[in-house]
Amino acid sequence: MTGAATGIGKATAERLNGDGAAVVVNFVGDPEPADELVARLTGRGGSAIAVEGDVSDEDAVAELFRRGTEAFGGPIDLLVNNAGVEAPYPLVDMPLEEWNRVLAVNLTGAFLCARETARALIAASEPGAIVCVSSVHEVIPWPSFSHYCASKGGMKLFAETIARELAPHGIRVASVGPGAILTPINHELVEDEDKRREVEEQIPWGRMGEPEEIAAAIAWLAGPEASYVTGATLFVDGGMTLYPGVT
Ligand code: NAI
Repeated sequence: MTGAATGIGKATAERLNGDGAAVVVNFVGDPEPADELVARLTGRGGSAIAVEGDVSDEDAVAELFRRGTEAFGGPIDLLVNNAGVEAPYPLVDMPLEEWNRVLAVNLTGAFLCARETARALIAASEPGAIVCVSSVHEVIPWPSFSHYCASKGGMKLFAETIARELAPHGIRVASVGPGAILTPINHELVEDEDKRREVEEQIPWGRMGEPEEIAAAIAWLAGPEASYVTGATLFVDGGMTLYPGVT
């Protein structure tokens, strides 16, 4: 589970661990939130470890999987590609470093982790699943977020393509497309009521989503009830992809 110390990642780690999965809590930066999460999960009887690692760094990803495999004895059979970053820049002001950063974490990170997962599962002749945390912005254009939309649009066709490649190996690939969810990535909306109301007016269901509502969808996509689901994106967005602003 990448980027698992906060937001959707944290809620999903809690959910999957509660369902019985051993979880590798990947994080970058401050170890405290990841350590706290792991302490909570193991404190209630679950198996979990925290592993620092930048998903856009090839060597760090190899080390992340090595440590996860070593800790739980066997290939990782479920990857949740969740790590993601965003920051608004109109095209004309977009620094190349910012474009590269967002593509590196959101898209290259998903590729590196998917490749690692698939290599290990295929070598062990074991089935598995890869769930990508995409976004409604894999289909909805979003001004000032062209890098983010490119990363999530790229993730859509990446996931669809590897779903075809990995199907003969019994590895499913599916995406969840969250709408506006109350997590640290949206701290402005969490803190500013007026801005939040503006966004909520764009959502047919009339409110932002909770991380646990995304975690539930990921748990279903990852589980046996979704055994015939591959290459699909499940939007969990209160109807945002119904284009409510367009009459
Ligand atoms: P968040 O900011 O809490 O989670 C992102 C996590 O990724 C953080 O824990 C961060 O430390 C981690 N991360 C950043 N760079 C990393 C790197 N190089 N390597 C490893 N981890 C890294 O925000 P949230 O909302 O939980 O985001 C999770 C995913 O959900 C992201 O991919 C985001 O694009 C996606 N998403 C979120 C939506 C929302 O409204 N909150 C809507 C649609 C998609």
